Amino acid sequence: MDKKKILEEITKVVRKCGDDMFSRSTSDLNISTKTSSKDIVTDVDLYNQNRIINSITNILPEAGFLSEEFPDGAFPENESVFIIDPIDGTMNYSKDMGHSCISVACFKDKKPYIGIVYDPYREEMFTAILGEGAFLNGKPIKTTNQPLSNSLVLTNTASYYPELLDESIERIHSILPKCIDIRIEGAAALDICYVAAGRAGLYFESRISLWDYAAGALILSEAGGELFKLDGAPITYGTEKTSIIAGSSTTIRQSGLLPS
Ligand code: IPD
Ligand code: CA
Repeated sequence: MDKKKILEEITKVVRKCGDDMFSRSTSDLNISTKTSSKDIVTDVDLYNQNRIINSITNILPEAGFLSEEFPDGAFPENESVFIIDPIDGTMNYSKDMGHSCISVACFKDKKPYIGIVYDPYREEMFTAILGEGAFLNGKPIKTTNQPLSNSLVLTNTASYYPELLDESIERIHSILPKCIDIRIEGAAALDICYVAAGRAGLYFESRISLWDYAAGALILSEAGGELFKLDGAPITYGTEKTSIIAGSSTTIRQSGLLPS
């Protein structure tokens, strides 16, 4: 199927999911905990997930899926695979923080070639198709050309993994004097898109999952940015969790966070 048609279909369904997120009062969400009280899922995550999968299956019955709230975590062998985060920033959503998004990436040969991240609060649709640039609500976006010293930096505390707290804090400590300031906003996919749009110069986090970064990674690279694991290795787009640093080549180098 034509990639523009797939992009169109996904933008339609994520917009609908986003609109419906507002019709639910966050005080009557059904919330369950996963690995700890910091790691939750709501009935809206599950509703969005089903709705997105059904809508893609209607146009592409042969597609495979890997979605955050799916019980089976293996990477499907289908030619087209969709990686879905039905709500990125679920804790923010449950607390009415107004900063969450829906993230969908389409993979061919285990690499993303379509990426969509939708923020229903700001009605911001970030999109990219491999080789065709990155867009915000249809307008091209680019990473900043500012040095790190004139950039905001985004991070999260990898709060599902308490064993990583010290290393996360150490990185924050080392980067603060090199940038304008740090923001911790709680939705990794949006962090990556904000770097793609040049709002922030850099994002890093000690451990995230494929659905958190899959769509954002394509949007960022199409916007001229780069991303690596924090040990300097390339991102592999596998089902294993990974550390991540995303920015322009300049801000990444100036961060001093990668081994030289
Ligand atoms: C989480 C958020 C959070 C980040 C975590 C992610 P979720 O996604 O993006 O900011 O720190 O690593 O897992 O669980 O809300 O989809
Ligand atoms: Ca999620």
